[in-house]
Amino acid sequence: MTENLPLAGAQMLTAALADPAGAPSHPAIFLVLGVVTFALHIAAVALLLGSTGVAVYGGWRGGPHWQRLGATMAFTAKTSMAAAIVLGVAPLLFVQVIFDPFWYATSMLSAVWTLVFLAALLVSYLALYRANAVMHAHNGQSILSARAVFWLVVAFVLFIKCGALMHTFANQALFPTHWLEWYAPNGQIDASGRSLHYVLLPRFLFFISLALHVTAGWIYGLRRWVLSKRHVHNEDGLYSDFLEKVAFRLGQTGGVLVFVLGVIWMLMLPPEQQWFLSEPWPYVGLIPLLYFVALPYIQKRRRLCITCNYMGFVMSVIMTVVLAALREALRVGTLFESSGWNPFDMAVHWDVPSMAIFFVTFLAVGGTSLAYILSAAWTAGLETSGRAEAVWVPSAGHEKLGKWAAALLGIWVVAYFVVGAAVMLA
Ligand code: HEM
Repeated sequence: MTENLPLAGAQMLTAALADPAGAPSHPAIFLVLGVVTFALHIAAVALLLGSTGVAVYGGWRGGPHWQRLGATMAFTAKTSMAAAIVLGVAPLLFVQVIFDPFWYATSMLSAVWTLVFLAALLVSYLALYRANAVMHAHNGQSILSARAVFWLVVAFVLFIKCGALMHTFANQALFPTHWLEWYAPNGQIDASGRSLHYVLLPRFLFFISLALHVTAGWIYGLRRWVLSKRHVHNEDGLYSDFLEKVAFRLGQTGGVLVFVLGVIWMLMLPPEQQWFLSEPWPYVGLIPLLYFVALPYIQKRRRLCITCNYMGFVMSVIMTVVLAALREALRVGTLFESSGWNPFDMAVHWDVPSMAIFFVTFLAVGGTSLAYILSAAWTAGLETSGRAEAVWVPSAGHEKLGKWAAALLGIWVVAYFVVGAAVMLA
């Protein structure tokens, strides 16, 4: 029987795996950026799962309102996917800077699954595009045909698969004292990377369940937009009333679900993480959870307040940042307890050029591209809003933003190769 690695063993192993180059600036910067970008990633993932789920349900339920919402949400899913991927890369970079031995070890332990993740991601994205392509028009409205629903279901199942894999990688990284037992079960080395070792179901379901709530916040915004444009589009108020009901039900169910799953997760924390319960963190977590429960009722009372209707989504994202900070506290404490790892002890070798390249890329290239993708998703999704004949015409400002995004990306690609060649030849 293979023993778990004692703390000293885990300490030695992670110290040996640590990059001697250390961090290129103060670790606190990476910690904060990691939290914020993870929160944005998981919010985009939540919208992706929620919008795909609503689109599947809308296509299956049928009827003009469900069909219209379903078609709009199938479009929203496409752009949330782009945002989820772009915003997934950022926390990955930060994790690799300050928790590299852990991310490296978990990727090696389940190497084959990291490739399965990429394949599943690719196929799910294609399925989403296929679903949007096979929608057809009926009486001027986009219809989610049975084929479109089929492709949406394929995409949804694969998204869940991707999320489950991401969760397993992140979770395995937290338990260095188990790595030996996973790498060499019964003393026999298994270097195949074919196994997944540790899923903590309540934690995974907790993050997935954010989908209902975040999507409710999004639909509240959608309802407000439809309501304010109903004269322009010559509509009665029935569709916006329908949207409000859907958002209320999603928010109500999502709020309770996320609360219950949060409590179950805390009750089922493994022994290495029990320390968390005697700290103030889980109680701070009650703030976002109670907000999630309250959101639909706040929106009901404030149904005429324009800012409040749009703020529902923004506040959900802000509350997700709080949850991401607590998740990070759990990681920092767990790794310190089980392997003595403290990101603040990392050697700092200031590397100003690489930091400058990183921030310019992040803000200028990533910022303009994301601003274009998200604003296009919002305006195009709303203006066409399931109406087959509607064509989105970007405004002059949008056109300009798109050209800037493409130009900066082009300059960045050229600069990447020029700097690379200069370093190689120097
Ligand atoms: C459909 C696609 C995806 C889904 C459903 C998904 C879902 C998730 C979930 C549920 C978590 C939280 C895991 C946990 O803490 O237990 C997570 C974390 C994360 N995901 Fe994703 N994800 C997706 C795509 C991506 C992509 C494409 C990337 C990067 C290229 C990415 C990067 C990350 C990173 C870096 C973390 C945090 C890891 C850590 O802090 O240790 N994800 N994802």
